[in-house]
Amino acid sequence: MAHEIIELFTTVPPGVVLDATLGGGGHSELLLERHPHLSILGIDRDLSAIAAATQRLARFADRFRAVHCRFDHLTTAMNTANVATLSGALFDLGVSSPQLDQAERGFSYRHDAPLDMRMDPSEPWSAADVVNGCTEQELTRILSEYGDERFAPRIARAIIAHRPIESTAELAEVVVGAIPAAARRTGGHPAKRSFQAIRIAVNRELEILPAAIDAAIAATTVGGRVAVLSYHSGEDRIVKERFRSAETGDCTCPSGLPCVCGAIRTVRLVRRVPRTPGADELASNRRAASARLRVVEKIALDH
Ligand SMILES: C[S@@+](CC[C@H](N)C(=O)[O-])C[C@H]1O[C@@H](n2cnc3c(N)ncnc32)[C@H](O)[C@@H]1O
Repeated sequence: MAHEIIELFTTVPPGVVLDATLGGGGHSELLLERHPHLSILGIDRDLSAIAAATQRLARFADRFRAVHCRFDHLTTAMNTANVATLSGALFDLGVSSPQLDQAERGFSYRHDAPLDMRMDPSEPWSAADVVNGCTEQELTRILSEYGDERFAPRIARAIIAHRPIESTAELAEVVVGAIPAAARRTGGHPAKRSFQAIRIAVNRELEILPAAIDAAIAATTVGGRVAVLSYHSGEDRIVKERFRSAETGDCTCPSGLPCVCGAIRTVRLVRRVPRTPGADELASNRRAASARLRVVEKIALDH
């Protein structure tokens, strides 16, 4: 959906677009190439992403700036870069391919490494802390809510029984062993959902998201757009809910009657139903299977 995302920013006013999940800089590069009226402020909580994107986008140095920051602190990044308002913001949530591919980061069940999964390795809370420190009840919730794992209670019990678990290979083995043999043969690698769930917990991905979306909408100027690409039902629910809150201004009046509660509707939904990937995208990118793209356009300021 990269090209569709880039086209969404054709109509936004000239100015700065926030790439809230800079990663390797792929989306930023396309935006800079396609839209000479835009500059990019890129943020990422992973310093190695900042370094990679800065190198990739060196030829756009006059229109690109990167700040190491978590996206719920996006106004701090804007202050650092002296940016007062945004022409738009883009969130491409979750983990990047380089993060998954660097074995020593401990994100992947495909490579054996110490359990880590921190997008920002300077943060204190790693996958080893979640796996070895959470109660059985907490682990069950994490696996079920963040991984949609139907065998969450069995896996949580197996993790507790095998603690301490120190490596990705050990964790993958424990998870696979806890899933009934018949169920292991469907739906990709049996440890995939558990690894996703633990990664989301380590990085507090869902807790951070609502404030970040609200802050991006608040910082965007009229005519600007906020686009969010999510890969998990929990993320998509949050995006839908925050966009709806901005679209309705949290109006409390009975539906069908004129609004008298003073609600200010600050955005319109660019499409009511989220965009999902087409068959050709699915064939070339399996990660795209769960992708949902939602977009709003700012129509009024709330102050
Ligand atoms: C899917 S990748 C983005 C890929 C990017 N769009 C590209 O074209 O290369 C997600 C990136 O967002 C970063 N990220 C995830 N959550 C974040 C957060 N709360 N704050 C800042 N960066 C975050 C990750 O470190 C990762 O580099």
